[in-house]
Amino acid sequence: MKIYRANLIDTPTKDAFRVLYHGYIVVEDTGVIYGTYATLPEELQGFAVEDLGDKMMIPAFCDMHVHAPQYRNMGLALDLELLPWLNTYTFPEESKYKDLQYAERMYRRFVHELWMQGTMHSVVFSTIHYPATHLLADLFIESGMSSMVGQTGMDRNCPQTLSNTTDELVEGIRNLDAYLKEQCPDGRVRTIVTPRFVPTCSDEMMSGLGQIAQELNLSVQSHLSENRNEIAWVKDLAPQAKHYGDAYNRYGLFGQQPTLMAHCVHTDGEELEMIKKNGVVIVHCPMSNMNLGSGMAPIRRFLNEGIHVALGTDVSGGHNMSMLRAIQYAIQVSKFHYGMSGGKTSFLSQSEAFYMATTAGGQFFGKVGCFDKGNSFDALVIDDNYLNYDNYTLEQRLERYFYLGDDRDIKRRFCNGKELCEPAF
Ligand code: GUN
Ligand code: FE
Repeated sequence: MKIYRANLIDTPTKDAFRVLYHGYIVVEDTGVIYGTYATLPEELQGFAVEDLGDKMMIPAFCDMHVHAPQYRNMGLALDLELLPWLNTYTFPEESKYKDLQYAERMYRRFVHELWMQGTMHSVVFSTIHYPATHLLADLFIESGMSSMVGQTGMDRNCPQTLSNTTDELVEGIRNLDAYLKEQCPDGRVRTIVTPRFVPTCSDEMMSGLGQIAQELNLSVQSHLSENRNEIAWVKDLAPQAKHYGDAYNRYGLFGQQPTLMAHCVHTDGEELEMIKKNGVVIVHCPMSNMNLGSGMAPIRRFLNEGIHVALGTDVSGGHNMSMLRAIQYAIQVSKFHYGMSGGKTSFLSQSEAFYMATTAGGQFFGKVGCFDKGNSFDALVIDDNYLNYDNYTLEQRLERYFYLGDDRDIKRRFCNGKELCEPAF
């Protein structure tokens, strides 16, 4: 049993913060939260308490959509929209991951950056290359962080050097899944079925991926309705599909297994209905949507309709791996919507954005994302002393941290109950 005393702040529901000034959080040896208390109950009074003073303790972040092999391009090459951006900058960079030495150099930095930014859970695209994907999974195992790592499927409309076959990919998924189930029986690092998007995946590949996802009971991730030219292209490529989402659904890749779809900037009508009906989780990536000129996803509307929305950085479409920036942009984009709609839609609150960055993503992993009893203990200790020079409430301190803070304020990081030290890079 381990007991910490700190200013606890989390979002069990999206509508408000739950705060506990100088509260206690009790963690079992298994890494599961035993409870949070304003005063320690009698049965716990013999245990040592680690007092973190006036620091804040918040749930660690979940980045639900990020491309590890785009790490070198972060903050670069944002002068084109999606399709030319992929061809000009992204595919050439990802092709380099055939070289395992290059992959190791970059992936070590990527994993280190997740740690630095307090992102203890991530859902990651790698490349088409099995050895590099396996290496990335090993680096996550070594780091102590949780992740779902997907070897990316691509077999059309891409360079020959960046395409795999359905058989190769399915074998890769099988091997990585078997390896990770043996190495991580607790599921801390898992693989995820990852068709890049409809334009780069033939019917054969989609069909193979749908089958393997079901057979091995794996989650699925992809991109959906991000950019207008992309959507028009998908109409040509998949004329039988009723809409872009249906092109995944036909192959069992749209909620038949737990599914993340990034962007959904232009999702509407029947596609939105199918997302709702199938329980697909939308991953909002506001930084990327702005950088690639994709548009503004109507997140208020999605939330009003009861759709699950989590948050991602989408590096390197997104230019920064900080989930603080993702929170900030999510709120600011929603305010553009508000302004453009003549005030008809309300914008996102601080607690809604924080919920999307922690609890909503955490639920995709299991009992993760807030400080409820029975959840895995995943937390960051934040020292905002330099920002906290007057009588701010905890909610105000967190709000200032969203806008003014950064990774330097994160003093300690816990994942699955363990304190994680800085990974080598
Ligand atoms: N759609 C297909 N691939 C990508 C990618 O790498 N980034 C983004 N933002 N969208 C995509
Ligand atoms: Fe992406």
